[in-house]
Formats: sequence, structure tokens, C-alpha cells
Amino acid sequence: MAFKGLRAAGVAVALMMAAGPAWAQDPGMLKFWTTCGACHTLDSSGGHSKGPNLWGMVGKTLGAIPRFATYSTAMKEAAGRGTVWTEELLDRWLQNPQAMVPGNEMGFSLDAAADRAAVIGFLRTQR
Ligand code: HEC
Repeated sequence: MAFKGLRAAGVAVALMMAAGPAWAQDPGMLKFWTTCGACHTLDSSGGHSKGPNLWGMVGKTLGAIPRFATYSTAMKEAAGRGTVWTEELLDRWLQNPQAMVPGNEMGFSLDAAADRAAVIGFLRTQR
């Protein structure tokens, strides 16, 4: 799994380099692939990594991405509440995932509000 994730990150970096100026001008895209990209895929074809594929995240139900088989019990229970991801909720999640869904297995957060805003702005376009 870790190897798959690394390979996906490598492909992402290669794609970013091929894209040149586009990603250089998008701090959210750069931040995504240098942080979230270690554990998340982002493509419409639906493959997952350590974390679920984040394609079209805004508007989806929390903890309910199809065919992601390794959700924690905490996330599955949270999914039962039918929470829908908004940009505001993503901001809360990225600041402190454990405060939002205690016991979930995403061991990562973004402290700087500017980083969160950039990543969320980029994610909003990935749909
Ligand atoms: C170290 C690995 C790792 C990193 C880095 C990481 N995540 Fe995650 N993320 C996960 C895992 C694992 C889950 C599933 C958690 C669970 O099931 O408890 C998750 C879940 C999520 C979810 C909830 C998805 C759903 O199904 O509702 C969102 C949104 C998310 N991550 C966004 C991000 C963003 C954006 C970043 C970068 C700023 C990021 N993650 C960085 C591992 C990671």
C-alpha cells in the first residue's frame, strides 16, 4: 500500500512538472500534491490510496466514498449522521480531524489558515 501511494505521488509529481506553469501558479494544487497526495488520490476514475479518493469532495457525504474499504469505525459511525462536506467543514476537518471525528485515522492537519484555504480552493475545482 505504501509503495502504491509513493508511486501515485511520483506520477502526480511527473504530471505537475509536465503541467509546468499551471501548478506553479496554483499554491493549492502544489500544497495538495506535496501533503495530501501522500495518502489521497484525486481522480474521477475512483481508485483509492491510504485515504479515500478526494475527487468531487465538496457536496459528498462524510465517510461514504464508494469502494473505500478501510474507513475506521469512527468514520463509519460518523457517516451514519449524513453530514455533507462543505468548504467550511473541510476547513474544520483540516485544522483538526480528531476534534471533528474523534478516533478517525487521518493523522494529518494543516495549521496555517492560508494553506487550508488554498487546498480547499483547489479541491473545489476537482469535480
Ligand atoms: C498520512 C495520511 C494522510 C494525509 C497526509 C492526509 N490524509 Fe486525509 N485521510 C486519511 C485517511 C486514512 C482518511 C480516512 C480516515 C478514517 O477512515 O478514519 C482520510 C480522510 C479524509 C477526508 C474524509 C473523507 C470522507 O470520506 O469523508 C478528507 C476530506 C480528507 N482526508 C482530506 C485530506 C486533505 C485535503 C489532506 C491534505 C491537506 C489530507 N486529507 C491529508 C489520510 C491522510
